Amino acid sequence: MRIEIAKTPQAAAESIAARIIKVLTEKPDAVLGLATGATMEPVYQALIAAHRRGEVSFAQAMSFNLDEYCGLSPTHPGSYRATMNRLLFDHVDIDHSRTFVPDGAMADPVLAAADYEERIAGAGGIDLQLLGIGRNGHIGFNEPGSAFDSHTRQVSLHPETLKANQGFFADGSVPHHAITMGIATILAARSILVLATGGAKSTAVSQAIEGPVSAECPASALQQHGDVCWVMDTAAAGGLSRAKAS
Ligand code: GLP
Repeated sequence: MRIEIAKTPQAAAESIAARIIKVLTEKPDAVLGLATGATMEPVYQALIAAHRRGEVSFAQAMSFNLDEYCGLSPTHPGSYRATMNRLLFDHVDIDHSRTFVPDGAMADPVLAAADYEERIAGAGGIDLQLLGIGRNGHIGFNEPGSAFDSHTRQVSLHPETLKANQGFFADGSVPHHAITMGIATILAARSILVLATGGAKSTAVSQAIEGPVSAECPASALQQHGDVCWVMDTAAAGGLSRAKAS
């Protein structure tokens, strides 16, 4: 596991963007696993800026997002599909038909989940998975207690997660269910990049990196993956026993 501690959230986000650009430069048709959340917004801004400067193209890339709320149409502004379009896809040269987000509006979530796993497998698997981390250590929407061998499935959201995500909904009402890649789906990615910024993430970060590997902290499963890079700012690194900004 590699750990990079940047001085500011912006520097951490730019480091993540640079790593994504490097992958796309080396493999233009890379399959990217993408994430939502406020933490990712400066990453996508940096990618858009780099694209405008001609430094990166997504024309041959493919993407799979981690998760989606259930019961929202893809055009609902709170849906992760609409969010990804707004924050990244509409501003770069990616082919929208090669961007995938779990279908939270499908009547049968079991079918939607199985379809998503099949699509990922059909694409040859994920080359680089981008991850944020929830304050309770969740990855994607795999809440504490999620099995490490879980695949894409419908889940219930933890009250803490509902509260953390209220701000993304004009009326504050967050759907209580979501479809998320499972922990096994995430661990199957060939390479994983995790971004954590802000003091509210410091406990989750230290438990994930230095704590026991336990379902109580889903992000601790990343300790079992051979190619994980954590990038964080000094605030998020505050709970680590040997944290030093580079
Ligand atoms: C959300 C998303 C996660 C994200 C996390 C952190 O609920 N499902 O994929 O990493 O919570 O979000 P934020 O960056 O807004 O703190």
